[in-house]
Amino acid sequence: MKKIGGKINGWDAAYQKKPQQFTEPDRICTLADVLFPKYGVKRILDLGCGNGRHLVYFGKAGYQVYGSDLSDWGLKAASRWLGEEGIPSRLALADMQVLPFADASFDAILSFRVLQHNLFADIRATFLEIERVLRPDGLLVMDLLRFDPDSDRFKKAIMVEPHTYVLRAGTERGMPHHTFTKAEVFGLLQNWKIKFFNTQQDKKHFTIIAQR
Ligand SMILES: C[S@@+](CC[C@H](N)C(=O)[O-])C[C@H]1O[C@@H](n2cnc3c(N)ncnc32)[C@H](O)[C@@H]1O
Repeated sequence: MKKIGGKINGWDAAYQKKPQQFTEPDRICTLADVLFPKYGVKRILDLGCGNGRHLVYFGKAGYQVYGSDLSDWGLKAASRWLGEEGIPSRLALADMQVLPFADASFDAILSFRVLQHNLFADIRATFLEIERVLRPDGLLVMDLLRFDPDSDRFKKAIMVEPHTYVLRAGTERGMPHHTFTKAEVFGLLQNWKIKFFNTQQDKKHFTIIAQR
């Protein structure tokens, strides 16, 4: 477990132990394949890219891909994989709340299994940062952990604010998990156009595509 900038990130040790944590792209990528050309997407940021499964997927398809993550071991794994595929490695070690990119740098931002790892105030700040680095009319493709009052998943966790839990064990021990209500999602995206909104089959996440 590693603490960077005051944030605990158990994923760092996980990537050190097993660099290829995630290999298959999320299913929503097939919809992004159709939407990205339609919206003139060329340059993509994967926010919380981990070991780079989506950087490789979209890099192979010819997009200019950039990744940022809080885990240096994750970025090392991503860099190695990108190198093997002959895709330029454009990676930044950064907290999602403070991105080292200029305003309107990207046509699309991806973020899978990442944005929930914050307290809600920090999630709001992250959305402002996403709005800053995404160009007007750019696309955000993401999933968010879903609030489910019937779920047992966080029964043994510590609730640190409404719907935000800190796990006591496992890879994500010490990391916050905010579970989103639909109202929260629509509140965060009130100035966005929602293009796709779905509950994943596992019922644990919402999958969303929104346009700035
Ligand atoms: C479940 S993994 C998902 C990785 C990748 N998005 C994927 O789908 O393969 C969660 C990722 O979020 C990153 N992460 C957690 N907190 C972060 C933060 N505050 N800023 C940037 N990345 C963060 C972790 O290092 C880890 O790579």
